[in-house]
Formats: sequence, C-alpha cells, structure tokens
Amino acid sequence: MFSHFARGSTGLVEGQGGGRKTMEKGAIMTNLNDTATAEERREEAPNEFRLGRRAALLGLAGGTVTAVAGLVSPAFAQRAFTTGNVKDAADVGDFLGSLPQCRLTTATVEGPYFIDQRIVRSNIRERQPGLPLELELRVANANASCRPIGGAVVSVWHCNAQGEYSGYLFNDPDKFPDLDTVNELGHVTHRDNERWLRGAQTTDAEGKVTFQTIVPGWYTPRAAHIHVRVYLGGNRMMTTQLYFPQALLNTIQSTHRDYRSRGVSIYTNENDVVRDQSGITGRQDILQVTAKPDGSLRAAMVLTGT
Ligand SMILES: [Fe+2]
Repeated sequence: MFSHFARGSTGLVEGQGGGRKTMEKGAIMTNLNDTATAEERREEAPNEFRLGRRAALLGLAGGTVTAVAGLVSPAFAQRAFTTGNVKDAADVGDFLGSLPQCRLTTATVEGPYFIDQRIVRSNIRERQPGLPLELELRVANANASCRPIGGAVVSVWHCNAQGEYSGYLFNDPDKFPDLDTVNELGHVTHRDNERWLRGAQTTDAEGKVTFQTIVPGWYTPRAAHIHVRVYLGGNRMMTTQLYFPQALLNTIQSTHRDYRSRGVSIYTNENDVVRDQSGITGRQDILQVTAKPDGSLRAAMVLTGT
C-alpha cells in the first residue's frame, strides 16, 4: 500500500471522504466529498513516448486503409504519422506494458471545471463530435515495485472539441476563466446538467481502466489536456493532468473538421501555465499515442504514486 501521503509531495494528496462504493454501470456517485486541494509539486514524472513513422506500415500511402466515416481521413493520418508522434497500434502490442512503469506522476491542480460527480462509465463521449480516442490508464504503486493497484477509482474529465466543459457551457473558451467566481477550492460553480466527457472507472487487477472518448480541444489559456483524479480508498487521492504530443495536436487542430474552426492553439505544452507551475518540462506527462487503422487514436499512461 501507499506509505507516504504528504500533501502534494508525492503526487498524492489527502481529501475528506474519498471512500469507495461498489459501482454499477450507470451509477452516479454523488455523496463523496472531495475537499482536498491538489497542490502543484515538482516531481520526476516523465512518461516517455517513442517516436516513429508508421504510415508505411499502415498502408496509408498505398490507400489500402479506408478511414471510417466521421473519424479521420487517410490523408490526415498520413500527416499525423509524418509528424513522428504516433505509432501503429498493432505494432505496439502490450501498449501499457511498453511504457515506463515506475516514474512518479506529477501532481497538479484539478482546475476550475472539476465536478465531484463520478459517473461510472467507460464510454464518456455521449454525442460529442471529435476524433475518437481510446484512453488506457494504469495505476501503479512506486513503493511496491510499481505493482498495479486494483480497485482504485479513476475519474477523468476534459473539454470537447470546441474547448467547452459540460456543466460550464456558459463559459467562453476564448476568454480566461473568471477567477473572481471560484470558490475556496478553486472551482467555478457549474450551471448546467450536461456531463459529457466526464466519467469514472475502477481499476482491474492489472490496475487498468479504459475510456472511450475524443481528443480534447483547447481553451484559454491551456494546452490541450485531460484531467485525472485517482481515488485510492480512504482519503487518499492523486490528481494530475495528461497532455498530447504537440505536433499531433497541431495537426488535429489545423486539419480535423471538428477542431479546425478554432485553429491551432497558441497555448502549447511548452508555454502551458499548469505545466510550468508544476515543473513539468519536455515530454513529461505526455501521453503515448498510437493510431488505429481507421485513423482513431489510442493513448496510454501509467499513473504512479508512492
Ligand atoms: Fe482543464
């Protein structure tokens, strides 16, 4: 079990509540209070992604792969691959198993658009348009040879292709968050009942959860990201944010029909305020991404605490 729970110092913070219930599909956990404040801490937490050009292996150049309607075009995938940031999923095999298993995940703030409502479901997309993404996460314990942690609740939330969060549709993604309206926990009060692109799963014996979602868009003043909070039982939790290879984002934001209306974000992994404040540099906390033959994406990360 985790043995060190100093607030923020290990990527884990304490919270009130945080107990775990038996969860059934579609159930909504609403009575667990999270009043802990995640703190930004500098940690060694890189999850490396390896570079590769897989277009040829996918047969894209020869036109042997046909994109599924509503996903991406082969031309898009071609461009994405030539950016050197994605790999052929079939070439990776045990995707999670190929990643660095024992590097501490960086703890970051949960941000203003957190809603403490864990909707238990693997598919969080609902009807949101965007580039389909299969997100695979594994929770591991750095104090036990990075043994997977089963039974942890992993909650994810992120904005849609237009930079909007469910619950916060009043918010203009081109404007800075109104920090005058945040409560003592740093959260803006949500106003609508939409909950798309939010959901939670319990890790299996391999510490793994999978979500079906889309690649997030972007909003001012953030690089594209996915929020994650891991509830480890009792009052223990870990909060972090995950990012995408920048060249891949640039390609998606400039070419994909569901993203290009907002254009390429000026907010990048290099200048992102949360990454900067959390001491995240380079490829740290950037998801490893692969592409499926239909042009949709898989992304993976091992979340490791001590
Ligand atoms: Fe966010």
